[in-house]
Amino acid sequence: FRTLDQLEPAGKRVLLRADLNVPVRDGKISDRTRLERLVPTIRELADKGAKVIVCSHFERPKGKRVPEMSLKPIAAALGEVLGKPVAFADDCVGPEAEAAVAALKDGEVLVLENTRYHAGEEKNDPAMVDGLAKLADVFVNDAFSAAHRAHASTEGVAHKLPAYAGRLMQAELEALDAALGTPKRPVVAIVGGAKVSTKLDLLGNLSKKVDVLVIGGAMANTFLAAQGKPVGKSLQEAEMHDTARSILEEAKSGGCEIVLPEDLVVAETFAANAPSKIVGIDDVPADMMALDVGPRTVAVVESKLENASTLVWNGPFGAFEITPFDKATVEVAQAAAKLTEAGKLKSIGGGGDTVSALRHAGVIDKLTYVSSAGGAFLEWLEGKTLPGVAALSVH
Ligand code: 3PG
Repeated sequence: FRTLDQLEPAGKRVLLRADLNVPVRDGKISDRTRLERLVPTIRELADKGAKVIVCSHFERPKGKRVPEMSLKPIAAALGEVLGKPVAFADDCVGPEAEAAVAALKDGEVLVLENTRYHAGEEKNDPAMVDGLAKLADVFVNDAFSAAHRAHASTEGVAHKLPAYAGRLMQAELEALDAALGTPKRPVVAIVGGAKVSTKLDLLGNLSKKVDVLVIGGAMANTFLAAQGKPVGKSLQEAEMHDTARSILEEAKSGGCEIVLPEDLVVAETFAANAPSKIVGIDDVPADMMALDVGPRTVAVVESKLENASTLVWNGPFGAFEITPFDKATVEVAQAAAKLTEAGKLKSIGGGGDTVSALRHAGVIDKLTYVSSAGGAFLEWLEGKTLPGVAALSVH
């Protein structure tokens, strides 16, 4: 695909697909990372004299104009992050959008209203695609985190206009390629999270590509129970035991080493500072649940990292939102950060919870790359083709 290196944007109307779908709590943006990561692309385009027309979805209004899902306040925040005024149009296609674009001067930035206010966005409807394509001369996609959606603004419009990857899209793809495409070996993957069932494709794909696969989080309980270990009241999926066993067998025959917990932190209740103790995996009491992995497991994982060249991480080890069950996640994250800083490890993390866990551990800027994507990061690790990325290669 082409990048901004191949684009002469001066005087051109550039439709920039961004992901302005930032987390909002009590009416306030709780994390501006996605806005900050857009700055290089917007600045480069504006500085080179483009008319920058930013479009994005925000939450899931399902084709209706839901006022709480307006991009207007997000556009204002983007202006603050950019340190430059940003215009806003009340619609993303049609006369209002067209008039706002016509009023733009070279080097100015305009944000269009939520693309998902139109049902045609998610349907990738040709009329919606035409409405967007009409606004611009070229298309730049910087929304890696929405690239797993084949929508009008992520996929359709890339077929209608000369299409380019923005700097964030480029950085995400380069980081992922370094993790799994052409990685330096040995590669260690850490997969955590609650359920085996939602991460089946991920585990399957990773076990074929990495040298060591560390399984943590509540999904580890399912693997332990499948091997006949007692798991007490721990969260687990009894119906996934056969699947868990076949994942282990397949990985083994393919030469991928699987690391499961050796010890666990257990408590009677899932509550902050609930009394807890460390037990071996054969000794989980019937009335207790595992909420984190224990120090022996952390030591094993750290030794794997010390011998690794590449780490790809998705999902925390424990219930990191509540203390003290964040301990393993924090310790492994800090170990990974240290090895990265020493130039010994290339570390890539991403996916919903993982970003907050890595931020909580204070390593968000210390790993090689932390993706701004949730679902798209996962689908990429699962080995799936992302329609928004594929569409950039059609020209
Ligand atoms: C995300 O936050 O993962 C992206 O913005 C995609 O959002 P969606 O899951 O609503 O398509």
